[in-house]
Amino acid sequence: MELIDVMLKRRSTRKFNGEPVTKDGLDRILHAGLLAPTSRNRKPCNFMVVGRRETLKELSESKDHGAKLIEGADKAIVVVGDAMIADTWIEDSSIALTYMHLMASELGLGSC
Ligand SMILES: Cc1cc2nc3c(=O)[nH]c(=O)nc-3n(C[C@H](O)[C@H](O)[C@H](O)COP(=O)(O)O)c2cc1C
Repeated sequence: MELIDVMLKRRSTRKFNGEPVTKDGLDRILHAGLLAPTSRNRKPCNFMVVGRRETLKELSESKDHGAKLIEGADKAIVVVGDAMIADTWIEDSSIALTYMHLMASELGLGSC
């Protein structure tokens, strides 16, 4: 798919069909996150894959609004930005998330 088509197709998905994400799909999404640029190439982001239902539930309650959808997902990717490595960890983490969100869309997987 052309990049513009992936961009046009991408949407925030908050309801999931319960189908598990394959290891290949997950690897490709994580690879996309690793390809994201970071300020001064500091690479301050680590990615943690969460599949444990109890932890997904805890993550869904981690803030007052907007996180409920995590409960219904097969997997969550927690991006941990290290402020000791780069003061741009928020920007770097956001860009990595965007890359992963676009790759999920390319693979036909719902994500938010
Ligand atoms: C910085 C940022 C934070 C967001 N936070 C949440 C959130 O906490 N919960 C949620 O369900 N969606 C969140 N979204 C998704 C936006 O609501 C969504 O991108 C927007 O409504 C446009 O819809 P679309 O992604 O389907 O085009 C966030 C998006 C951005 C860019």
